[in-house]
Amino acid sequence: MKITVQSKSGTHVFDCGEQESILHAGLRQGLTLPYECATGTCGTCRARVMTGQAEMRWLEAPGGARLKRDKGDVLMCQTRARSDCEVAVPSPIVVANGAPPAARDGVIRNIRHLAPDVAGFDVRLSAPMTFEAGQFVVIEADGFPGGRAYSMVNFETEVDTIALVIKRKPGGSFSEWLFREGQKEPRVNVFGPLGRAVFRGDEGKNIVCIAGGSGIAGMMSILECASRNAYFRAHRGAVYFGVRTALDAFYLEPLSHYAATSHGNLDIIVAFSHEAAAGPVHADFPGLKLARGMVHEVAGNAMDGRLGDALFYVAGPPVMVDATIRALVVGGVSSRDIRYDKFA
Ligand code: FES
Repeated sequence: MKITVQSKSGTHVFDCGEQESILHAGLRQGLTLPYECATGTCGTCRARVMTGQAEMRWLEAPGGARLKRDKGDVLMCQTRARSDCEVAVPSPIVVANGAPPAARDGVIRNIRHLAPDVAGFDVRLSAPMTFEAGQFVVIEADGFPGGRAYSMVNFETEVDTIALVIKRKPGGSFSEWLFREGQKEPRVNVFGPLGRAVFRGDEGKNIVCIAGGSGIAGMMSILECASRNAYFRAHRGAVYFGVRTALDAFYLEPLSHYAATSHGNLDIIVAFSHEAAAGPVHADFPGLKLARGMVHEVAGNAMDGRLGDALFYVAGPPVMVDATIRALVVGGVSSRDIRYDKFA
């Protein structure tokens, strides 16, 4: 099918396969179509189908709450074309620099439990992928409508295996399927890399990472990239990692390693929202500090009045991300210096 997109910056035309979303088709052909979550939750990819037939697969997608469906509004990340279409997008679109995201086949391997309801797993890719620290992929599996977004934990220039983190949700059919089928190495579709909340080794600013639960995944990739670039020789960093209790914390060993090799320039604070910390520092993992409270409040208190000259990375549940961004903006941080991904 041929998709013609009218945008504030002109008209673009691209091909769209029967089985791919309009968003994926445009992105893989190098266009900067608007998106954030790529999984139907944020509403950023809103567009209006002016002519032609298109079908939104997940009608109840939370990101579609404000669509004017009677006027042809759709979420491009959830919509497949059923004929040639003309689509209007309310933002500028240009041709992106660099390699565009692409679809690959993947095989899930090596599921490992990290915390009571969190697991890590690898996806072996059918073709290597290059990505930036902080980016994510969307994974789709047969029998599960829509896709799920996961940030890469690892960081390499080019990888054939990506490491991801999943939170097990009671009644969350995909996560339960993954835990059940994991030993059989199930096949999935992988689209990416996606996301603009990236860290490059030449940012030139101090960095602050604020993560809730499995949101720490992308921060691990950022820390690995920073570590490889000896970033903390010349810059300071802080990581605030929020979990409910000490039992829910994971990746403490690599975090402790990053703190130990940071020349004293990286503070890592694990915040417990549902119990008191056993002490000011972790007894088993040197370099990790402990605190009690919601992670955005712990971060806000620790940085009180010292928010300038840093890049802020935020990841986690949407409520936590929203609260953190609000607190940062109220504290005087420019929105240009806040990078975040909001998955649900
Ligand atoms: Fe489509 Fe978020 S990008 S709803």
